[in-house]
Amino acid sequence: MCDVLRTEGLIGGHRLLTMLQLEEPAKVAVRAWRPGDTLRRVARATLWDSNEHTVHIALVAVGGGVLDVQEAPGALASILALDCQRARDAVRKDERFLAALARRGILDIDSVHVEAWSFGSEVPAGIDSTRRLVWTPLWLRPEPDSNVYAHPIEGLRTIVDLDSCEVLRVEEDEDPPPIPLTPGPYRADQTHADVRLRDLAIVQKDGPSFTVDGWAVSWERWRLRVGFDQREGLVLHDVRFVDEGRERIVAYRMSIAELVIPYGDRAPGAQRKQAFDTGEFSLGNFTNSLTLGCDCLGEIVYLDVAVADALGNVQEIPQAICMHEEDHGILWKHTDQSDHVEVRRSRRFVVSSIVTVNNYEYGYFWYLYQDGSIEFEAKLTGIVLTTAGQPGAPAPSATEIEPGLLAPYHQHIFCARLDLDVDGGPNTLVEVDSEPLPPGPLNPEGSSYTTRQTVLARESAAQREVNSFTGRYWKLVNRQATGHLGGPVGYKLVPGAVTWPMALPESVIGRRAAFMYHHLWATPNRRNERYPAGEFPYQHAGGAGLPEWTAQDRPLEDTDVVLWHVFGTNHIPRSEDWPVMAVERTGFMLKPVGFFRRNPGIEVAPPGAHCH
Ligand code: CO
Repeated sequence: MCDVLRTEGLIGGHRLLTMLQLEEPAKVAVRAWRPGDTLRRVARATLWDSNEHTVHIALVAVGGGVLDVQEAPGALASILALDCQRARDAVRKDERFLAALARRGILDIDSVHVEAWSFGSEVPAGIDSTRRLVWTPLWLRPEPDSNVYAHPIEGLRTIVDLDSCEVLRVEEDEDPPPIPLTPGPYRADQTHADVRLRDLAIVQKDGPSFTVDGWAVSWERWRLRVGFDQREGLVLHDVRFVDEGRERIVAYRMSIAELVIPYGDRAPGAQRKQAFDTGEFSLGNFTNSLTLGCDCLGEIVYLDVAVADALGNVQEIPQAICMHEEDHGILWKHTDQSDHVEVRRSRRFVVSSIVTVNNYEYGYFWYLYQDGSIEFEAKLTGIVLTTAGQPGAPAPSATEIEPGLLAPYHQHIFCARLDLDVDGGPNTLVEVDSEPLPPGPLNPEGSSYTTRQTVLARESAAQREVNSFTGRYWKLVNRQATGHLGGPVGYKLVPGAVTWPMALPESVIGRRAAFMYHHLWATPNRRNERYPAGEFPYQHAGGAGLPEWTAQDRPLEDTDVVLWHVFGTNHIPRSEDWPVMAVERTGFMLKPVGFFRRNPGIEVAPPGAHCH
């Protein structure tokens, strides 16, 4: 693929490959496919010309030639590893920057950790706003193995043009706080951690209960295909459940389409901290190679993935996706009046991957359960971002975690793109609230309540927030597929930990990530509507993506509905988040509602010999 792009002169020199993705075929073509049919496989290459400042999208037939090249007017490429490297190299050689470091007593540039961060969209006066920019927060590395985040160098940063590699600005504040030199070690050889437990072995003497054929996975009654994307990372496709011998479709494609981290502090430069880890950094690039016994325990099957770099070199990431089974407590239990006990263990199937984006780790974990439920859980770990302040001084938007070492308040806001096809579709979106019946004949005792079900018939009506007072959930129903009592079959989206954006809607990040201001959006499925902040969020002023599409207010009833669920955490750091934070979780569940005749868990056999 990359060879074709190179031969055609589309990559090489100042022509860079920003992303190589599968151009997924139209759903109708996939649905019509039968074994033996050929379906043309096409790759989608996003190309950046750093001289011309243009983005082009090239479609390339797998094993064939270039099919199409189109310019994306006004777009800027996302940030590339090569960009970051060049920007850091330029900074490290800049005389003004070196002089500023020397004024702080730092003479060894190798002791300075420079990061290249996306810029937001607020370009300082005097800099051409069409340039593609990064800024560079700094940390000190006093020893080769130091935790750099313990030692932020506050009050000094640069702005770099990613394409010309010019250092455009060296920003230096007067009277900066001292560099904290408080401890931050977390490596075992530094901490000598010695709290130990006895060995815990996961033994599956007959092997795991799932089979893998390429990317197709079969576990228990679930069937699915696992996928990977350079931008989104882990993706699930074509998720089905075998019900009474029949494969029933639940989801066509599910991914985390965006992840944005707005910071809430007011240190100079802090207004730029609003990274779109998916849309600006292409999260899939940072996928870890996982290790057996550490990242994943038990009988593991790994999938390898590959990403292409800016020059079209393919880099394999071995053991990038982990698949395994976990015991998950009990699935159900009942002891009856005769003391007869029925109990079932719950086993869940886990597909996961972990990325490292600078200081932070994100684990994406999808779980399939034996009662027909699906869960997504993001695991947030790694090291909190740090700044420096005067020790003990008031810090209204940060936690002082060591004297003078500040961890700014921030939010991790995810947006899942859930292309569900409940029983093959078409689907209709319904909001369900529980509420007391009005006092009077309908509710004489005052304790009766009911559910109010509202069809969210258009895009404008489907921009919703969670409501824990009414136990609100949303369900996608298939009105053409009726369950055994005649009602439409459905799956419901059950929100878990959600947050609300603290940035004001009129702020830079409020405009750029306007999708944050609803927990639920719904759109009719369009292949080119893939990311909630738009296709090209890099330095984009905002308005693209969900706000733009849904302004059409398209009808949603009995159509191919895509749900967009916004969730995440508001991270007020604790001293216990330091020096590395224990996993924080956020996510949601999808549960069958009227989809099955009864609890699918009833078909699970008892544990057998182990139960005594
Ligand atoms: Co955090």
